[in-house]
Amino acid sequence: MDIFQWEGYWFEPNLINPAIAFRSTFQARDNDVLLASTMKTGTTWLKALSLCIMQNKSSTHQNHENPNKHDRDILTTENPHFHVPTIESTIYSTKTLMVDIYGTHLPYAVLPDSAKNSSECKIVYIARNPKDTLISMWHFFNKVLRPDRDPFPLEKAVDCFCDGVHQYGPFFDHVIEYWRESQKRPRKILFVKYEELKCDPKGQVSKIAEFLGRPFVDESEVDEVLWRCSLERLKNLEVNKSGSILLNVPNSSFFRKGEVGDWRTYLTPEMEERINQISRVKFEPFGLFF
Ligand code: A3P
Repeated sequence: MDIFQWEGYWFEPNLINPAIAFRSTFQARDNDVLLASTMKTGTTWLKALSLCIMQNKSSTHQNHENPNKHDRDILTTENPHFHVPTIESTIYSTKTLMVDIYGTHLPYAVLPDSAKNSSECKIVYIARNPKDTLISMWHFFNKVLRPDRDPFPLEKAVDCFCDGVHQYGPFFDHVIEYWRESQKRPRKILFVKYEELKCDPKGQVSKIAEFLGRPFVDESEVDEVLWRCSLERLKNLEVNKSGSILLNVPNSSFFRKGEVGDWRTYLTPEMEERINQISRVKFEPFGLFF
């Protein structure tokens, strides 16, 4: 895949114009929710969870225009990326924005000013340990590769990741920008770690719900949301076993193992140390640890 650098980050060419249009023309509204991430850090999970939280029946923010909307298990009808479109790859290329919850992989620096500053729009960012992100990305790109192309070797994937030359890279800069901003403005940006979601799903999902102004009323609601969004359930829904959200990107490619530490199966000690070294330089001075 050809990628180009824009504003210090790498993108496939067809994303750059929509990203520029998004930055210069998008007007965020006060009730909007922007789900941000770099690739393969749990975006699909965060989208599913946030959808369910925003649709929660007991919420004090009932949807009066369409009360039945809350009764539908919409994750069974379409993949989470359909309901929560990724703005630069879907909306600004093909559609007009008609939703109030949307996703982006764009770095913080290029988000529209209205999303960052001049609206009450909330931002939830999901990050993941770099080594698992890399392995997840490597699997993903090999899965969506054209059948006539050779698989991308892991050694090369590690080089690209460490050099920051990959889709939406550098990974480390992407994460740290959102982290630092979330530290400065915790009411505006919630920084979620994939590992913490896995380890304490109830606590973390309740935190997201509170941040979004949709706190759960009782524990059964949290259990329901977690069940609806579980990897096993989503992976086995008919809608995710077939079909594709984007050309050549099957819905099934968003669901794999969902394990913390899967990198141990693939990375050599040298690869591990190389990535740890970058984490030490880029993350640890700002108090970010995975
Ligand atoms: P693995 O490749 O390690 O299994 P993204 O959604 O940002 O593309 O990230 C994909 C990663 O999140 C994949 O990780 C995928 O399996 C995992 N994932 C997708 N849905 C999930 C869910 N509901 N719960 C936990 N992990 C999930």
